[in-house]
Amino acid sequence: MQFLTRTAIVSLQLTLFSAVHGAKWTYDGPQGQDHWSERYPYCGGALQSPIDFKSDLLRFDPTLRPIEVQNYNLSPNEQLTLGNNGHSVQLSLSPMMSISSLHNQYTAAQLHFHWGSASRPAGSEHTVNNKQYAAELHVVHYNSDKYPNISTAVDKSDGLAVLGVLVEVGMFNPAFEHILKFINGIKYRDQKVKVPGFNIRALLPTRLDEYYRYDGSLTTPPCYPSVLWTVFRNPITISRKQFLSLATALYSSNAQDSAPMPLNNNYRKTQPVDSRLILVSFKERRGLHGTLTVTSPLTRKQIIQQLLVGDLGDLADEDLHKLLPSGSEKHHAGKKKDLKTQQSERLAKSKQQTLNPSLWKKSQANRHVGKLGLAENTLSYVSLEQRVSHQLKQSHAENQMVQALRDAVFPELNLKSYLECRSDLALPTIRYILQGRPTDEATELNHSLTKAMMNQRKTSTALEKDLPMTQYNGHSTATVSRKPQSQGYPHPWLLPMEWED
Ligand SMILES: *[C@@H]1O[C@H](CO)[C@@H](O)[C@H](O)[C@H]1NC(C)=O
Ligand SMILES: *[C@@H]1O[C@H](CO)[C@@H](O)[C@H](O)[C@H]1NC(C)=O
Ligand SMILES: [Zn+2]
Repeated sequence: MQFLTRTAIVSLQLTLFSAVHGAKWTYDGPQGQDHWSERYPYCGGALQSPIDFKSDLLRFDPTLRPIEVQNYNLSPNEQLTLGNNGHSVQLSLSPMMSISSLHNQYTAAQLHFHWGSASRPAGSEHTVNNKQYAAELHVVHYNSDKYPNISTAVDKSDGLAVLGVLVEVGMFNPAFEHILKFINGIKYRDQKVKVPGFNIRALLPTRLDEYYRYDGSLTTPPCYPSVLWTVFRNPITISRKQFLSLATALYSSNAQDSAPMPLNNNYRKTQPVDSRLILVSFKERRGLHGTLTVTSPLTRKQIIQQLLVGDLGDLADEDLHKLLPSGSEKHHAGKKKDLKTQQSERLAKSKQQTLNPSLWKKSQANRHVGKLGLAENTLSYVSLEQRVSHQLKQSHAENQMVQALRDAVFPELNLKSYLECRSDLALPTIRYILQGRPTDEATELNHSLTKAMMNQRKTSTALEKDLPMTQYNGHSTATVSRKPQSQGYPHPWLLPMEWED
């Protein structure tokens, strides 16, 4: 997604800002996406977007309600601004438009597209089991319960909600034509035209109840991890002719530039998943074992409580598996079948409770989480970057900006995400929580965990080699969440984990 300007005034401010910082990023070449993190350290950091929606990361969440949008049907009397910002075609939206079905109210700001090229109609940012669609639409909203405008919201951890729509080539799309009609008026960077309002809802797929949900980031610099992502399962279509118009009409260069640069292939590559999970509001139609259900938020709070104030010895001995990535749940599924069914039935209820502030306050775990300053605070990425940059300058370690920022935000973001069931608990987060407990037990637990995770990684690597059917892309190594299926090991007691202990 893009965080870019709506009004001429803001545009001017950002242009000045860009000029001062020499900030001109592109998708390819010397300023291309592999170099974004040199100027924009969050681009090399935690919880980046887009990602590949890989089947084995999906978790069914029965509490995910259908997306509801308000006032998307705009009157033709409403004037919208369509612009070419050099990275995309962007349409300003009415501040009356909103998403009403999330925990906060999110007000619409703009929509824009990412697409491939005439010769290669593959330019979506999110992919589904490595399948890339022709294009992708992003409708960007900000948290208007907490922030006065999108500029204030963009660098906050709970600032934005984006609706993503995958686009494939097929039937002619009349709603898309409301934009395409005016595209020749914005061929060059910084050009803008006024366009009449239309029914924006018609750009979304018919079904708003089936979607992927995860915690991620802006997909363009400065890449702040501030986005609650909703990507609809069902793509919309545009005709081949419509796709070709989009892919060939625009330039990323200004009108006066002597060498015009075509504007296409404006998508970011998929990013490492880290410890994230992808919640889905639907069950997969096919798939060997169906879709796993998320573990209950109540259980998750209890685990954090135990890490903060409970008996760490117990965790190290009996409950270690609770701390391991949730793919390993498959392993225990047999033993706890009844429990598991009950758990998923209780899930809807306990998630509701999580949302009730008075119950949330009574929770012991949360009180301690709060004390540590974890999970409840909103992170403000700009001020954090200034603080970290200042500290690094004092110790002459400016080159460690990317890693320093990642270390600063990852545990908190991971913990928040874990409590919302959208992540596994990562080892750095556990270590971070354990810092408040300088005891032998903490060291022992850390040691047991490190060992258990190493073993998981070893055995899963071995297993991947034996399973040519399983598809892995380049990022799968970032998730340590593979555990051998028991049928892969006829003698589970031969696992190295069993006899090292
Ligand atoms: C956004 O709100 C902040 C805080 O009220 C204000 O300082 C800023 O000027 C506003 N920005 C825009 C673009 O309206
Ligand atoms: C945890 O264990 C790992 C490996 O044994 C070690 O590198 C790390 O420093 C330990 N961390 C803490 C907080 O004790
Ligand atoms: Zn986008």
